[in-house]
Amino acid sequence: MILVVGADGMLGRDLMSLVGDSARGVDIGEIDITDLESTTRVITTLKPEAVVNCAAYTDVDGCESDVEKAMQVNGEGVAHLAMATREIGARLVHVSTDYVFDGAKGSPYQEDDSPHPLNVYGESKLAGEMNAAFNPEHLIVRTQWLYGHHGKNFVETMLALGAEKSQLTVVDDQIGSPTWTIDLASAVMALLKNGCRGVYHAANQGFCSWNGFATAIFEESGFPVRVAPMTTEQLNRPARRPLYSTLDCSKLIRDTGFCPQSWREALKHYLAQRKGA
Ligand SMILES: NC(=O)c1ccc[n+]([C@@H]2O[C@H](COP(=O)([O-])OP(=O)(O)OC[C@H]3O[C@@H](n4cnc5c(N)ncnc54)[C@H](OP(=O)(O)O)[C@@H]3O)[C@@H](O)[C@H]2O)c1
Repeated sequence: MILVVGADGMLGRDLMSLVGDSARGVDIGEIDITDLESTTRVITTLKPEAVVNCAAYTDVDGCESDVEKAMQVNGEGVAHLAMATREIGARLVHVSTDYVFDGAKGSPYQEDDSPHPLNVYGESKLAGEMNAAFNPEHLIVRTQWLYGHHGKNFVETMLALGAEKSQLTVVDDQIGSPTWTIDLASAVMALLKNGCRGVYHAANQGFCSWNGFATAIFEESGFPVRVAPMTTEQLNRPARRPLYSTLDCSKLIRDTGFCPQSWREALKHYLAQRKGA
């Protein structure tokens, strides 16, 4: 059995449906990963073969003002999961982020590039990566710019705004790979099936700016919205963001044979499913 922690979140829900009958899901109502006792009790009772941790404090700007919560959930929580899974000989899969990098490299990041987070969220996620190593049987999957059918995300925000406005201003100096949670869930399953360990990058292929992503969302969904550019500096959010943090996924492709589709194809499939729902 595979235990999905954070099963009610955006990624967790897609992972649950992909794993199917051999999945068991828990979220904050049943497990609090910041509490070692709660975490150990759930894991030693259910005795899964693998735990996939999708639980996190994901409010990037919120992390700047609540450093303690960020470190407790994204850092210490992973240590608790690692200790509990090690106790029963289960594997730990932990989902991490491109925000462990500073975006200054200028080309796609590989798994062994040195991390250097620019914000509290990235620091707390990096602490989580290090804590996952309390279980030698760990797998860390870094991803970025997620959207899915079961959570607040950029695509849904743009579609809501596009229904009301004919012009929007969106940052065009942050580059990344928008990634559909269904494709990330498939990558996680491929890594698990192939017995992969260590660090892997998994994202939809190709890259764009947030501005380019917004433009594609309106083009693919037929909204006549003009998307004007602005800079990250003009947006002035509390947390600093890496400007170029695309992830090189060739290790994933080499070791599993699974090649995520391009971000534009993924967006088309997401919008088609959304329409059919
Ligand atoms: N979203 C992105 O763009 C993105 C990009 C890169 C990496 N990631 C990583 O991908 C993973 C999944 O992200 P997501 O967007 O699917 O997250 P999400 O939708 O925010 O889901 C996280 C889930 O974890 C739960 N949770 C929070 N604190 C918990 C605790 N102490 N114990 C147990 N459960 C707890 C949340 O419950 P509440 O909602 O009640 O708090 C929520 O159901 C995370 O590790 C995230 O860091 C996300």
